Amino acid sequence: MLEIDVPARLSGISKPRVALVLGSGFGGLSEAIENSESIPYADIEGVPQPQSGVAGHAGVLIVGDVAGVPVVVFSGRVHGYQGVSSRDAAYPARLASALGCEVLVVTNAAGGVNPDLVVGDVVLISDQINLTGGSPLVGWPGPAGGVPFVPMRDAYDPELRTLALEAAADQGVTLKGGVYAGLLGPAFETPAEVRYLRAVGADVVGMSTVPEVIAARALGLRVLGFSLVTNAAAGEGLSHIEVLEAGERARESLAELLVAILHGL
Ligand code: HPA
Repeated sequence: MLEIDVPARLSGISKPRVALVLGSGFGGLSEAIENSESIPYADIEGVPQPQSGVAGHAGVLIVGDVAGVPVVVFSGRVHGYQGVSSRDAAYPARLASALGCEVLVVTNAAGGVNPDLVVGDVVLISDQINLTGGSPLVGWPGPAGGVPFVPMRDAYDPELRTLALEAAADQGVTLKGGVYAGLLGPAFETPAEVRYLRAVGADVVGMSTVPEVIAARALGLRVLGFSLVTNAAAGEGLSHIEVLEAGERARESLAELLVAILHGL
Protein backbone atom coordinates (compact mmCIF):
# COMPACT_ATOMS: atom_id res chain seq x y z
CA MET A 1 0.00 0.00 0.00
CA LEU A 2 0.99 3.61 -0.47
CA GLU A 3 -0.56 4.51 2.88
CA ILE A 4 1.44 3.45 5.93
CA ASP A 5 0.73 3.34 9.65
CA VAL A 6 2.62 5.60 12.03
CA PRO A 7 5.67 3.58 13.19
CA ALA A 8 5.54 2.70 16.90
CA ARG A 9 8.72 4.73 17.57
CA LEU A 10 6.85 7.87 16.43
CA SER A 11 3.51 7.23 18.09
CA GLY A 12 4.24 9.63 20.96
CA ILE A 13 5.37 12.67 18.96
CA SER A 14 3.20 15.77 18.71
CA LYS A 15 1.48 16.18 15.37
CA PRO A 16 3.59 18.00 12.76
CA ARG A 17 1.99 20.37 10.26
CA VAL A 18 4.82 20.54 7.76
CA ALA A 19 7.30 17.88 6.60
CA LEU A 20 10.59 18.89 5.05
CA VAL A 21 13.00 16.68 3.13
CA LEU A 22 16.50 18.16 3.24
CA GLY A 23 18.74 17.52 0.25
CA SER A 24 22.44 18.38 -0.04
CA GLY A 25 22.85 22.06 0.83
CA PHE A 26 19.68 22.39 2.86
CA GLY A 27 20.90 20.59 5.99
CA GLY A 28 21.50 23.86 7.87
CA LEU A 29 17.82 23.97 8.73
CA SER A 30 18.42 21.16 11.24
CA GLU A 31 20.15 23.67 13.52
CA ALA A 32 17.14 26.02 13.48
CA ILE A 33 14.73 23.43 14.93
CA GLU A 34 13.54 24.19 18.45
CA ASN A 35 12.44 21.61 21.02
CA SER A 36 13.98 19.09 18.70
CA GLU A 37 14.21 15.35 19.05
CA SER A 38 16.43 13.44 16.61
CA ILE A 39 15.57 9.86 15.78
CA PRO A 40 17.93 7.80 13.59
CA TYR A 41 16.13 6.15 10.67
CA ALA A 42 17.59 2.88 11.94
CA ASP A 43 15.32 3.16 15.02
CA ILE A 44 12.15 3.63 12.97
CA GLU A 45 10.58 0.41 11.74
CA GLY A 46 9.57 0.42 8.09
CA VAL A 47 12.11 2.99 6.83
CA PRO A 48 13.34 1.59 3.50
CA GLN A 49 16.83 0.12 3.63
CA PRO A 50 19.05 1.11 0.72
CA GLN A 51 21.32 -1.50 -0.88
CA SER A 52 24.06 1.08 -1.30
CA GLY A 53 25.00 4.16 0.70
CA VAL A 54 26.19 7.57 -0.47
CA ALA A 55 28.35 9.77 1.80
CA GLY A 56 26.48 12.94 2.75
CA HIS A 57 23.09 11.26 2.92
CA ALA A 58 22.90 10.75 6.70
CA GLY A 59 19.60 9.40 7.89
CA VAL A 60 17.88 11.02 10.82
CA LEU A 61 14.35 12.21 11.45
CA ILE A 62 14.04 15.41 13.48
CA VAL A 63 10.81 16.42 15.18
CA GLY A 64 10.36 19.92 16.61
CA ASP A 65 9.29 23.49 15.83
CA VAL A 66 10.56 26.01 13.32
CA ALA A 67 9.20 29.57 13.54
CA GLY A 68 6.40 28.21 15.74
CA VAL A 69 5.36 25.61 13.17
CA PRO A 70 5.46 21.95 14.26
CA VAL A 71 7.62 20.13 11.75
CA VAL A 72 9.07 16.76 10.94
CA VAL A 73 12.35 16.95 9.07
CA PHE A 74 13.89 14.18 6.98
CA SER A 75 17.61 14.76 7.06
CA GLY A 76 18.69 12.39 4.33
CA ARG A 77 16.60 10.37 1.90
CA VAL A 78 16.76 7.07 0.09
CA HIS A 79 17.01 7.25 -3.70
CA GLY A 80 15.80 4.87 -6.37
CA TYR A 81 19.38 4.40 -7.57
CA GLN A 82 20.19 2.85 -4.19
CA GLY A 83 18.09 -0.13 -5.17
CA VAL A 84 14.71 0.70 -3.66
CA SER A 85 11.35 0.91 -5.44
CA SER A 86 9.81 4.21 -6.46
CA ARG A 87 7.27 3.71 -3.67
CA ASP A 88 10.03 3.28 -1.10
CA ALA A 89 11.85 6.34 -2.51
CA ALA A 90 8.61 8.22 -1.78
CA TYR A 91 8.70 7.17 1.89
CA PRO A 92 9.00 10.72 3.31
CA ALA A 93 5.73 11.75 1.64
CA ARG A 94 4.02 8.59 2.86
CA LEU A 95 5.20 9.07 6.45
CA ALA A 96 4.33 12.78 6.32
CA SER A 97 0.79 11.81 5.34
CA ALA A 98 0.57 9.18 8.08
CA LEU A 99 1.67 11.78 10.65
CA GLY A 100 -1.04 14.20 9.50
CA CYS A 101 1.09 16.82 7.76
CA GLU A 102 -0.61 19.28 5.41
CA VAL A 103 2.46 20.44 3.52
CA LEU A 104 5.56 18.69 2.17
CA VAL A 105 8.62 20.82 1.38
CA VAL A 106 11.09 18.97 -0.84
CA THR A 107 14.63 20.21 -1.40
CA ASN A 108 17.47 18.82 -3.46
CA ALA A 109 20.81 19.40 -5.08
CA ALA A 110 20.53 19.53 -8.85
CA GLY A 111 22.48 20.05 -12.01
CA GLY A 112 21.72 23.17 -14.02
CA VAL A 113 20.35 22.35 -17.48
CA ASN A 114 19.20 25.87 -18.31
CA PRO A 115 22.38 27.74 -19.34
CA ASP A 116 21.18 30.84 -17.45
CA LEU A 117 21.60 28.99 -14.13
CA VAL A 118 24.91 29.18 -12.26
CA VAL A 119 26.26 27.22 -9.30
CA GLY A 120 24.67 28.49 -6.09
CA ASP A 121 21.37 29.54 -7.70
CA VAL A 122 18.24 28.49 -5.85
CA VAL A 123 15.37 27.34 -8.02
CA LEU A 124 11.76 27.41 -6.91
CA ILE A 125 10.40 24.32 -8.65
CA SER A 126 7.33 25.15 -10.73
CA ASP A 127 6.78 21.71 -12.24
CA GLN A 128 8.51 18.37 -12.77
CA ILE A 129 9.19 15.78 -15.45
CA ASN A 130 9.24 12.16 -14.32
CA LEU A 131 12.01 10.40 -16.24
CA THR A 132 12.74 7.80 -13.56
CA GLY A 133 10.88 5.09 -15.44
CA GLY A 134 8.73 4.32 -12.41
CA SER A 135 5.98 5.67 -10.20
CA PRO A 136 5.17 5.20 -6.52
CA LEU A 137 1.53 4.69 -7.54
CA VAL A 138 2.08 1.55 -9.63
CA GLY A 139 -0.15 -1.18 -8.24
CA TRP A 140 -1.82 1.12 -5.72
CA PRO A 141 -5.60 0.70 -5.70
CA GLY A 142 -6.16 4.34 -4.72
CA PRO A 143 -8.29 5.63 -1.88
CA ALA A 144 -11.56 4.61 -3.54
CA GLY A 145 -10.31 1.20 -4.68
CA GLY A 146 -10.11 2.32 -8.31
CA VAL A 147 -7.09 3.08 -10.46
CA PRO A 148 -5.28 6.11 -9.06
CA PHE A 149 -5.23 8.61 -11.92
CA VAL A 150 -3.86 11.45 -9.82
CA PRO A 151 -3.99 14.95 -11.38
CA MET A 152 -0.51 16.50 -11.52
CA ARG A 153 -1.46 19.98 -12.67
CA ASP A 154 -0.19 22.52 -10.10
CA ALA A 155 1.59 19.69 -8.26
CA TYR A 156 3.83 22.41 -6.83
CA ASP A 157 1.23 24.53 -5.03
CA PRO A 158 0.81 27.98 -6.65
CA GLU A 159 -0.17 29.68 -3.36
CA LEU A 160 2.83 28.24 -1.53
CA ARG A 161 5.08 29.31 -4.40
CA THR A 162 3.83 32.88 -4.07
CA LEU A 163 4.50 32.75 -0.35
CA ALA A 164 8.03 31.45 -1.01
CA LEU A 165 8.74 34.26 -3.47
CA GLU A 166 7.61 36.83 -0.89
CA ALA A 167 9.73 35.27 1.86
CA ALA A 168 12.75 35.14 -0.47
CA ALA A 169 12.32 38.80 -1.40
CA ASP A 170 12.24 39.69 2.32
CA GLN A 171 15.47 37.70 2.82
CA GLY A 172 17.18 39.25 -0.18
CA VAL A 173 17.45 35.81 -1.82
CA THR A 174 16.88 35.59 -5.57
CA LEU A 175 14.67 32.65 -6.45
CA LYS A 176 14.57 31.59 -10.07
CA GLY A 177 11.65 29.48 -11.29
CA GLY A 178 12.27 26.22 -13.05
CA VAL A 179 11.19 22.74 -14.08
CA TYR A 180 12.88 19.78 -12.34
CA ALA A 181 13.58 16.64 -14.32
CA GLY A 182 13.93 13.56 -12.11
CA LEU A 183 16.08 10.70 -13.44
CA LEU A 184 16.90 7.36 -11.84
CA GLY A 185 20.69 7.81 -11.88
CA PRO A 186 23.17 7.11 -10.39
CA ALA A 187 25.26 7.90 -13.46
CA PHE A 188 25.30 11.60 -14.15
CA GLU A 189 23.87 12.66 -17.51
CA THR A 190 25.75 12.55 -20.77
CA PRO A 191 26.02 15.78 -22.78
CA ALA A 192 23.48 14.33 -25.24
CA GLU A 193 21.06 13.64 -22.39
CA VAL A 194 21.47 17.20 -21.14
CA ARG A 195 20.61 18.53 -24.63
CA TYR A 196 17.56 16.24 -24.58
CA LEU A 197 16.52 17.51 -21.13
CA ARG A 198 16.80 21.10 -22.30
CA ALA A 199 14.73 20.30 -25.39
CA VAL A 200 11.92 18.77 -23.33
CA GLY A 201 11.72 21.78 -21.04
CA ALA A 202 13.84 20.97 -18.00
CA ASP A 203 15.80 23.67 -16.17
CA VAL A 204 17.41 21.46 -13.52
CA VAL A 205 18.05 17.73 -13.21
CA GLY A 206 18.39 15.44 -10.23
CA MET A 207 17.86 11.94 -8.91
CA SER A 208 15.28 12.46 -6.17
CA THR A 209 12.07 14.40 -5.38
CA VAL A 210 9.84 13.19 -8.24
CA PRO A 211 8.54 10.02 -6.50
CA GLU A 212 7.96 11.98 -3.26
CA VAL A 213 5.93 14.64 -5.05
CA ILE A 214 3.77 12.13 -6.93
CA ALA A 215 3.01 10.26 -3.69
CA ALA A 216 2.37 13.51 -1.83
CA ARG A 217 -0.20 14.62 -4.41
CA ALA A 218 -1.85 11.20 -4.36
CA LEU A 219 -2.18 11.50 -0.58
CA GLY A 220 -3.50 15.08 -0.71
CA LEU A 221 -0.47 16.96 0.61
CA ARG A 222 0.37 20.41 -0.72
CA VAL A 223 3.92 20.59 -2.07
CA LEU A 224 6.65 23.20 -2.24
CA GLY A 225 10.04 22.42 -3.79
CA PHE A 226 13.50 23.93 -4.13
CA SER A 227 16.64 22.94 -5.99
CA LEU A 228 20.11 24.21 -5.21
CA VAL A 229 22.17 24.29 -8.39
CA THR A 230 25.42 22.60 -7.36
CA ASN A 231 26.93 22.14 -10.83
CA ALA A 232 26.29 22.50 -14.51
CA ALA A 233 24.71 19.24 -15.71
CA ALA A 234 27.32 17.18 -17.60
CA GLY A 235 29.92 19.74 -16.49
CA GLU A 236 33.60 18.87 -16.67
CA GLY A 237 35.04 17.03 -13.67
CA LEU A 238 31.59 16.57 -12.15
CA SER A 239 31.65 14.49 -8.97
CA HIS A 240 29.54 13.91 -5.87
CA ILE A 241 32.19 15.87 -3.90
CA GLU A 242 31.55 18.95 -6.04
CA VAL A 243 27.83 18.64 -5.33
CA LEU A 244 28.45 18.44 -1.56
CA GLU A 245 30.88 21.38 -1.57
CA ALA A 246 28.45 23.66 -3.37
CA GLY A 247 25.80 22.59 -0.86
CA GLU A 248 28.07 23.46 2.05
CA ARG A 249 28.61 27.00 0.73
CA ALA A 250 24.86 27.70 0.44
CA ARG A 251 23.97 26.05 3.75
CA GLU A 252 23.33 29.12 5.89
CA SER A 253 21.33 31.25 3.46
CA LEU A 254 19.14 28.29 2.49
CA ALA A 255 18.37 27.56 6.14
CA GLU A 256 17.36 31.19 6.64
CA LEU A 257 15.14 31.05 3.57
CA LEU A 258 13.35 27.93 4.81
CA VAL A 259 12.82 29.48 8.25
CA ALA A 260 11.33 32.60 6.64
CA ILE A 261 8.97 30.48 4.54
CA LEU A 262 7.82 28.45 7.54
CA HIS A 263 7.24 31.71 9.38
CA GLY A 264 4.71 32.64 6.67
CA LEU A 265 2.83 29.33 6.75
N1 HPA B 1 22.67 15.46 -12.36
C1 HPA B 1 21.85 14.69 -11.62
N2 HPA B 1 21.71 14.81 -10.33
C2 HPA B 1 22.41 15.77 -9.70
C3 HPA B 1 23.29 16.61 -10.40
C4 HPA B 1 23.42 16.44 -11.82
O1 HPA B 1 24.18 17.15 -12.51
N3 HPA B 1 23.83 17.45 -9.49
C5 HPA B 1 23.30 17.14 -8.29
N4 HPA B 1 22.44 16.11 -8.40
